[in-house]
Amino acid sequence: MGREIKKIGVLTSGGDAPGMNAAIRAVVRCGIYNGIEVYGVKKGYNGLINGDVELMEARSVGEILQKGGTILQTARCLEFKEEAGVRKAVETAKELGIDGLIVVGGDGSFRGARDLCRMGLPTIAMPGTIDNDISCSEYTIGYDTCLNTVIEAVDKLRDTSSSHERCSVIEVMGRGAGYIAVETAIACGAEVVLVPEFEFDFNRDVIEVIKKGIARGKKHCIVIVAEGVGGAVEIAKKIQEETGMESRATILGHVQRGGSPTVKDRVVASQMGAKCVELLLDGKENRVVCIRNGEMVDIEIEEALSMKKQLSYELMGLIRKLSV
Ligand code: ADP
Ligand code: F6P
Repeated sequence: MGREIKKIGVLTSGGDAPGMNAAIRAVVRCGIYNGIEVYGVKKGYNGLINGDVELMEARSVGEILQKGGTILQTARCLEFKEEAGVRKAVETAKELGIDGLIVVGGDGSFRGARDLCRMGLPTIAMPGTIDNDISCSEYTIGYDTCLNTVIEAVDKLRDTSSSHERCSVIEVMGRGAGYIAVETAIACGAEVVLVPEFEFDFNRDVIEVIKKGIARGKKHCIVIVAEGVGGAVEIAKKIQEETGMESRATILGHVQRGGSPTVKDRVVASQMGAKCVELLLDGKENRVVCIRNGEMVDIEIEEALSMKKQLSYELMGLIRKLSV
């Protein structure tokens, strides 16, 4: 340690998430506040490999706090998964005089950050993904906005499915994780939720639940399917065949990634961005800023990558109880 940090870079990597702009703004402004130069690195790790960077001023991040997406753009950079790609990125950073980096992204991006540290570029990461699937952190930037986008859509679907006495099967994002599905199912009063983390018996957990609902007088029904389970169209077809309730499938898709970030995403991203700058200035590297037991803390990337996070089975039970 003991090196002096004068110029840092900031990049967004993996899928974009609402709040990434708030994180970029916080890094730029906290950097400037502390008297250092901050470079915006474009299109994820690609920009670091190619030297596609831009000096950011306090004003370059004006009017972005409320915007979805990421002004720096993002990418999935395959070259960076190879040692040669990481080496090239470190060399480019050295040529540009960048002596520290802050990365906003998911697990894959954290691996990249760890590799950069191993090759000599001090890097700090923060979790940014709508999926909330980062094991080390109870919260990831973008999740709350995504949940709110989903519930707005499902509330609208409920209007039409109730008018037509239909079953609405809605597939939500989350990659291999069911966080988006479970929380939105509770918030929207879904009868059924299917997630990849928990096994289910289609007949018992879907068909019988819907049939019992019909017997109790339910006229319509909401089924949330996580993309890790998939097959919303086939599920809707089977429900219609086996319960007699007319069914329609909606795959919400990338609309879930956009939109103006909620207060929570703006605040968490701003705090995390500030903390990342502080850590770099304190001579720290190879760490992830995350939320644990409700507190913002930082942990070593390798340790963060080895952690496991469990989707709450209690929440699954709650959905069942509340849909009687
Ligand atoms: P996320 O960061 O959201 O998990 P990805 O898995 O797509 O998204 O990773 C984002 C980027 O991080 C990749 O395009 C790549 O540049 C880098 N990355 C991913 N996995 C690794 C890895 N194992 N080693 C080094 N870099 C990686
Ligand atoms: O990780 C965010 C996410 O939106 C996932 O929920 C989804 O599986 C994936 O990215 C979609 O990726 P792409 O934008 O490449 O289609």
